[in-house]
Amino acid sequence: DVRFLRSEDGSGKGAAMVTAVAYRLAEQHAERQRLMEVKRRMEEGMKRGLARDTHDSASVKMLPTYVRSTPDGTERGDFLALDLGGTNFRVLLVRVRSGKRRSVEMHNKIYTISQDIMQGTGEELFDHIVHCIGDFLEYMGLKGASLPLGFTFSFPCHQTRLDQGILLKWTKGFKATGCEGEDVAALLKDAIHRMEEFDLDVVAVVNDTVGTMMTCGYEDQRCEVGLIVGTGTNACYMEEMENVELVEGDDGLMCVNMEWGAFGDRGELDEFCTQFDAAVDERSANPGKQRFEKMISGMYLGEIVRNVLLDFTTRGLLFRGKLSERLKTRGIFETKFLSQIESDRLALRQVRSILQHLGLVSSTCEDSILVKEVCSVVSRRAAQLCGAGLAAVVDKIRQNRNLEQLTVTVGVDGTLYKLHPHFSTIMRETLKDLAPQCDVSLVQSEDGSGKGAALITAVACRLRDAKK
Ligand code: GLC
Repeated sequence: DVRFLRSEDGSGKGAAMVTAVAYRLAEQHAERQRLMEVKRRMEEGMKRGLARDTHDSASVKMLPTYVRSTPDGTERGDFLALDLGGTNFRVLLVRVRSGKRRSVEMHNKIYTISQDIMQGTGEELFDHIVHCIGDFLEYMGLKGASLPLGFTFSFPCHQTRLDQGILLKWTKGFKATGCEGEDVAALLKDAIHRMEEFDLDVVAVVNDTVGTMMTCGYEDQRCEVGLIVGTGTNACYMEEMENVELVEGDDGLMCVNMEWGAFGDRGELDEFCTQFDAAVDERSANPGKQRFEKMISGMYLGEIVRNVLLDFTTRGLLFRGKLSERLKTRGIFETKFLSQIESDRLALRQVRSILQHLGLVSSTCEDSILVKEVCSVVSRRAAQLCGAGLAAVVDKIRQNRNLEQLTVTVGVDGTLYKLHPHFSTIMRETLKDLAPQCDVSLVQSEDGSGKGAALITAVACRLRDAKK
């Protein structure tokens, strides 16, 4: 709220501009302080999750994955991979070749998982999965083959070995009963036996972050972090074994699935949350849980925007103060609309037509400007928070190794990160600002989670065969 001091004379205007600039700088300074605080709390959270004494009460669970190294190029064979927990459910056949003809060839088919199945019984969910595998094997002409399988299961799992994963809690709207507290590899095997049509050797249960890191690590030895910004958000990285207190042994490294989406569940983000975050959280499938994820990922950003628009409309600032049924409907703002609305190439007229497509018919040109502004504020905050989290991760790796400067690669996947026109730039800026001692390359991974699961399976099979 800037007023001119003396309207006719230049010095008054100048003073006003100085005030405006000072105000902006103060805002930026405060923003930076807040993000530094988020980074600091994330670092604290990581330590809590890793330490045996504090693990149980920690929000960031820092789950051991039993993946101890990134690929070295000697992996080979044919593998099946399942990918459950992102935008789509996929079954993949992955052919990995080593040596001079080193390559990864993939075939996959996408299947839908309906809301009914996501929220039905665990048996129904796993029967459906096995049915899809059967269809895929037939489609690929592999009926009757028994291939080793890597299961990318993108939910928090407690692992005590690579081929088991006990589901701690569903996230991202999944609710199937009878799965929490169970080993998902066993649930899958039970369903395979129920169907009595084929057998599969479940070799690895893998989080999508880990798969992404492995895929990127296949090309780039420096890749030691995996990041997902899609329906949900999460990260993993290679931690020193001596810090992974839940696992015996002090030598070497182990990949830790942070489950950073749950950061904030102990109140760490309360001062940074708005009434809109609270509204989104309250009406979600898991109130009070995954608070960081709910400020960042694709499943929730559109809902935050919708809640802001609802508020602005009620206050008469938008849509001529008329609340439409459409605007009251949950989930109308998908990630792809946010990305479209914020695209620089889009004229306001086109923003307006997107709004009309969404059923917000009475929108004017001013409405379009305001909606675009709301989207950009919400996604900017998301990218900054994500950057602050990542800054904590790379700085932890640097400190672990007592380095002045660390060079590291992060493998990234997820629809929001890939589709949004500004997310990656803003995240990168924040990261650079908050972790100046780290040189970070962000590398997008194509089809990371499925391919990565196959690579992990390949390594496990090689080690197993070597033991025989
Ligand atoms: C959710 C899941 C986590 C996954 C992430 C990205 O946060 O809990 O396991 O990695 O979504 O898909």
